[in-house]
Amino acid sequence: MNAAPGAPLTLVVLISNQGSNLQAIIDAIASQEIHARILAVVSNNPRAPGLQRAKNAGISTAVTERADFATRKDFDRRLLQLVRDYDPGLVVLAGFMHILDDEFVTHFDGRLLNVHPSLLPKYPGLNTYRRALAAKDGVHGCSIHFVSSRVDGGPVVAQTEVPIRADDDEGSLSARVQATEHKLYPMVIGWFANGGLQCQYETIMLDGKRLAKPRKIAFAGLDETQESGEF
Ligand code: GAR
Repeated sequence: MNAAPGAPLTLVVLISNQGSNLQAIIDAIASQEIHARILAVVSNNPRAPGLQRAKNAGISTAVTERADFATRKDFDRRLLQLVRDYDPGLVVLAGFMHILDDEFVTHFDGRLLNVHPSLLPKYPGLNTYRRALAAKDGVHGCSIHFVSSRVDGGPVVAQTEVPIRADDDEGSLSARVQATEHKLYPMVIGWFANGGLQCQYETIMLDGKRLAKPRKIAFAGLDETQESGEF
């Protein structure tokens, strides 16, 4: 993992399903928005459509399924071995629907990012759209965070808010939140790749300063109620 100065950040991306975030990262690397290289895409689901996205981009893929192992511990051990063998500079969870064990999280401490479809600490876990709609929230969104051993509880780097409309259902809301994920995740990976973002002992440093609260980022054109820029 000791990269030569100026070398691209090396990534392993873990997916379970569609891989639309993976695609956004592939595209951001291709357009040189991020100085990085994806060493491999690992899926715990052999039918994940995201695997084809990786193949289309000429990226190696690996699949390891929980069902092939007698115990969860055996599966977790294999997963850690698989990802560790690529020796990535950063592990990117992009819709990876398996809770990583402490050994994995500790091994990649400070080098493990996740995207979650809510404004953490609100709505960790599943069904975030349904829960936000049921609570009649006015705003939802996405978070990019470093992973700790608390599920969806690691330090949050950045968030994008998405206003909830009166006529929203899970489909319409998730589409707008995902569109922001596809902008925000590559942006944060880019910060890490250029050395501006670090995390140690759950303390985030961004551009040389301790990040006391998540950076809020809005994107023009993704929601007409938002302005572009940081706030
Ligand atoms: C993303 O929307 C991400 O926020 C969510 O899964 C989706 C994967 O989509 N992740 C989680 O819920 C993690 N707790 P994708 O496969 O199209 O990138």
